[in-house]
This record gives sequence, structure tokens and C-alpha cells, in this order.
Amino acid sequence: MNKLLISNVRLVNEGEIRDVDVFVEGDRIARIDSSIRVPEGARVIDGGGKYLLPGMIDDQVHFREPGLTHKGDLATESAAAAAGGITSFMDMPNVNPLTTTRQALADKYRIAANRCTGNYGFYLGATNSNIEEIKALQVGEACGIKAFMGASTGDMLVDDPDTLDKLFEHAPVIVVTHCEDSPTIWANEDAAKEKFGEEVPFTEHPKIRSAEACYASSSMAIDLARRHDSLLHVLHLTTEKEMALFSSAHRSEKRITAEVCVHHLWFDESRYEQLGAKIKCNPAIKRAEDRKALIKALNDGRIDIVATDHAPHTAEEKEGTYFKAPAGLPLVQHALLTLFDLVAAGQISLELLVDRACHASADLFGVQERGYVREGWFADLVIVDPATPYCVTAENVLYKCGWSPFEGHEFSASIDTTIVNGKVVYRDGSLTGVIPGRSLEFSRAR
Ligand code: DOR
Repeated sequence: MNKLLISNVRLVNEGEIRDVDVFVEGDRIARIDSSIRVPEGARVIDGGGKYLLPGMIDDQVHFREPGLTHKGDLATESAAAAAGGITSFMDMPNVNPLTTTRQALADKYRIAANRCTGNYGFYLGATNSNIEEIKALQVGEACGIKAFMGASTGDMLVDDPDTLDKLFEHAPVIVVTHCEDSPTIWANEDAAKEKFGEEVPFTEHPKIRSAEACYASSSMAIDLARRHDSLLHVLHLTTEKEMALFSSAHRSEKRITAEVCVHHLWFDESRYEQLGAKIKCNPAIKRAEDRKALIKALNDGRIDIVATDHAPHTAEEKEGTYFKAPAGLPLVQHALLTLFDLVAAGQISLELLVDRACHASADLFGVQERGYVREGWFADLVIVDPATPYCVTAENVLYKCGWSPFEGHEFSASIDTTIVNGKVVYRDGSLTGVIPGRSLEFSRAR
């Protein structure tokens, strides 16, 4: 039986920080106490006073399998995520074939089995024509239903008003939305083409994928959810204006919740000048004032979850001109470190980081027995060293695409150890090669 004693750690969990030892037996946390004698046959990891957190649960990633595996795959990207302290992930349906049928969903779970370092869940994608598949979906079969209410990467726009109405009326589980109004964006693209021809500068991206486009679409999603009393989670919010649409009540009291992604908390539009296509993403990174408002909303509870929207594309693909370079950036390996930098800068507390990055997605998606450090629950854990900085270089990037928008940046903290289902998957700067990831169990019905 796997036995692991993690001694001398500062456990950050459920709004508290306390000095403990944690004993893991098999795939579960067996005991949390102020001092635990080394159980016979146990491996000991001396935490050295570092932080111990529940592993991050990322509710929005694009790991590109099946069909787009030249950009990334479930094995490579889940390993990079584990190196970043992400122990569970929920993967999006804009792959090839699209995950828009229950059969495609089942296929994806089959493909993932025994290949993921972390635990996995998959979304069923909505289209203008798959309402019968959505109605037939059983609770637990998917983490949620993804609706692109604005066109982005992949051909998955849901813009038919009747379909949207039916989707919100019948979705048996939570609906998560990408909100950007496509007609507004298309008009902005035409205007930019008129002005610049094909050589539109990347600095135009936040003007093309504008705040107005975001607001029009998120307010529409919220109207629909209210009308049908459905569970709605609005993904990757980017603007100050949209923050007024959300309530700061605790997530346990809300049916409409919000997500922010680390790149929108980190960058502002001034960085398009230097980083160009590398930070071209949908929705776009907006103004410094928007970034500030997102951090405020994260603190006051209008934003419930921090995630990544990890969306790798190859460096060659990103070399194209504005219209050709695909949107999206790889993030999972450094997401938790960006949040630790925000803690170091005094913008969020450590307890809040853990609440929004680890606890909240477990609650909102009804993930069984994960997301918290509790006796009897799964041992998905990460030790973070707040005193050893970590510099991102092209050499230490683990993504299949081989690049990161953070190259050259030194984060103030580093990931020391990641544990999934009781197994050490990352330690001393290296993956161990153990692949303990399992299918997540979801229990939340609408
Ligand atoms: O920037 C993005 N990239 N936004 C999305 O919504 C999709 C993603 C992708 O799949 O590349």
C-alpha cells in the first residue's frame, strides 16, 4: 500500500493556514495533524515549512485531443499541468471531431484512460443542431455543456436564438459559455481591414474583440439563464463593465457564476505591442483598468473561479499575420505561479487563491471528494515553495508546442512537489513519469 508522510508544511485550506503533517495512504488523505509519527513503511517528504495546497482544478483547458495533437495532447499537456500544480482539468470540445455527441464524449474518456497525469473531465459541446444529444446527457457524463456564444477557435458558434433558448431550458447540467458577440466582432474586423488591409497590428485585437462585444453576449447569456433558472458559468471574463452583471454572494447561493483566467489577471493591452500573436486570445486582453476590476471582483466574490483557458498553438502557427495567427496561449504550467506573484504583490491573499483556484471548481461542478484537503478525500496536493524563484525558459517549458508567453519572467515562487491520487508526479523540477490520473466524478445536476 502506498504510504506517504508529508511533514512540516503550512497547509492552506478552507480559509485557514496551519502548520501540519499530512499522511497519505493509498490514494487518500488518511490523517492531518500537528505532528504525526512516521508510519511504518512510509516515504517521508519533508515540507520544510513550505505551503501545501489542494491541487488546482482547472475548469477550462484545450488539450487538443483528438485531432489537433500537433499542438498538444492529453498526455503532454496534463503532464505540464501537473508540473504547474494542476491536478485535475476539464477539457473543451473544440477538437476534431468536435465533442458534440455522447458517443464522441465517451470516445474522449476512452482516449484519456491511463494517459493523463492529472484527473480529467470533458465538456459536451453545444451546436445549432444537437439539442437532442444535450437532452439525453446524463448527470456525471460530462462536467458541463460548453456553448460558444461567440465564434472562436473551431467551428462551434451557437447563435440561433431558438437553439439558445432550448439549450438553457433543457440543459441537464451546468452550461458554460464563451461570451463575445460575433456580429459586433465581424463589423470591427471589417473596419480594421478597411483601415490596415491584411497587416492589422495585434494592438487592434482588444478593439476588434471589444468590451461591447463581451458585454452584449454575457448579458444575453445571463438573461437566458434567469429566464430558465438554469445553472450558468460564464467563462474568461475580461472587462470592468461585465462585473456589474454578477453577484458577490457566496457561490453556494448563486446559479450564475463567473470565471477569470490567469492571463487576463496578468497582462493588459499594452503588452500586445511587444508580445503580439503570443498573447492573441479570445476574449482579448483588455485595458489596465479592466485588469484591476477583475482583481477586485475576484476579491469581492463576483468572480468565483480562476482557470487558465490553456490553448496551445505551435510557434509556426503563431507567426502568421493578425487574421491568420490563431488565438490562444499555453498557460497550465505557470498558472499557479502567476497567482503566487499576485499574492506576493498583495493583490490577493493566499487563502483566496486556494478558494478560487482549488475549492471553487470542485463545488461548482460537483467534483466528488477533491478540491479540499480533508481526511478521507483524494490526495491531490501541491507543495509550493514561496522562497525559491522560478525562471521560465524555452528549455523548461513542457508543452508540446514548446513555448510560453512567460519566457524570461522569473516567478517569485516555484512548484516543489505535485501529488495526484496519492502518487508523486512532479518533484525536484522533474516529472516522475507516474500516470495516476482518473476520470473525475461530477454530481451536480441543474
Ligand atoms: O483564445 C482562445 N483560444 N479562446 C478560445 O475560446 C478558444 C481557444 C482555442 O481553442 O484555441
